[in-house]
Amino acid sequence: MAALGRASSLLSLLPLLLVPAAGAGGARWRGEGTSPHLRSIFLGRCAEYSSLLSPELRDKNCTAIWEAFKVVLDKDPCSVFPSDYDLFISLSRHSIPRDKSLFWENNHLLVTSYAENARRFMPLCDVLYGRIGDFLSWCRQENASGLDYQSCPMSEDCENNPVDSYWKMASMQYSKDSSGVIHVMLNGSEPKGAYPVKGFFADFEIPYLQKDKITRIEIWVMHEIGRPKVESCGEGSVKILEERLEKMGFQYRCINDHLPVKLLMCVDHSTHPDCALNSAVTSTRREAPPLCAEHGASLFIPFLVVLASVIQL
Ligand SMILES: *[C@@H]1O[C@H](CO)[C@@H](O)[C@H](O)[C@H]1NC(C)=O
Ligand SMILES: *[C@@H]1O[C@H](CO)[C@@H](O)[C@H](O)[C@H]1NC(C)=O
Ligand SMILES: *[C@@H]1O[C@H](CO)[C@@H](O)[C@H](O)[C@H]1NC(C)=O
Repeated sequence: MAALGRASSLLSLLPLLLVPAAGAGGARWRGEGTSPHLRSIFLGRCAEYSSLLSPELRDKNCTAIWEAFKVVLDKDPCSVFPSDYDLFISLSRHSIPRDKSLFWENNHLLVTSYAENARRFMPLCDVLYGRIGDFLSWCRQENASGLDYQSCPMSEDCENNPVDSYWKMASMQYSKDSSGVIHVMLNGSEPKGAYPVKGFFADFEIPYLQKDKITRIEIWVMHEIGRPKVESCGEGSVKILEERLEKMGFQYRCINDHLPVKLLMCVDHSTHPDCALNSAVTSTRREAPPLCAEHGASLFIPFLVVLASVIQL
């Protein structure tokens, strides 16, 4: 089953996540049930993040963070509010490096691989409090204590469910802590539009951006290789986003198929014409001055420079 979590506007993902309702297996809700081994995964992710990925966070107490979180596992699954995660967030919160924020919709896996465990960018799923819940689901049974492993409510079942409230709270905190250049990756091949006008980015991130800390916003509209371009910069829902940011007084720039991200997408489509290196590579290489050949290893560097200059994507 598809990924859960801050997987874009949950509303627009409904058809993908739909679990057969009561009748088939007796599931009460439409969302995925509590993830098996929730506590182990939670504590393991927290320990890995704070000791290996980000050793400056080694003072974080993962047991205390878990105890703050698990309060919601005792609550009615339709009565968990964003504020129920206040203590969890305040214990797990840490700063986000300037210019490293990466917001997104409909691009979860691409964002994860491009961010490279916060080494390149730090999207919410690479912040400790976002990493912990990434791809997980959790909720108590409706009328009993104990977790519900069959199903958990989604926004269509009830607004104040444990998973949505978590991502609302995490998204708001992430936005408030973002500074410098803000990056936004959208999916220009998404039939429902690249920018969901109702979604986590629209409703729980944009409104919480701190204008005085932000220099500008850069929107990247990525198109799937070899698939129709549904929307590009200046079109449809992207235009709605651009107008919204402009009205809010942000400096912004919109880029179609931002090259570094496209190069990463091309790893999986290396034979597609859109990913071809220009044939000039061969001829330019032939024309390289013979002088280079005598310099053994140093040949390689000029070649890379030439190669980089002729890649056409
Ligand atoms: C971590 O938090 C737990 C639970 O609150 C507490 O019992 C423990 O003493 C704390 N550990 C450290 C090293 O502070
Ligand atoms: C972009 O949207 C299309 C259409 O929904 C989807 O097939 C594709 O997987 C999405 N791309 C990413 C990187 O998630
Ligand atoms: C929980 O209790 C309510 C009220 O008694 C009832 O309407 C509902 O069907 C019960 N849910 C389950 C899963 O038993």
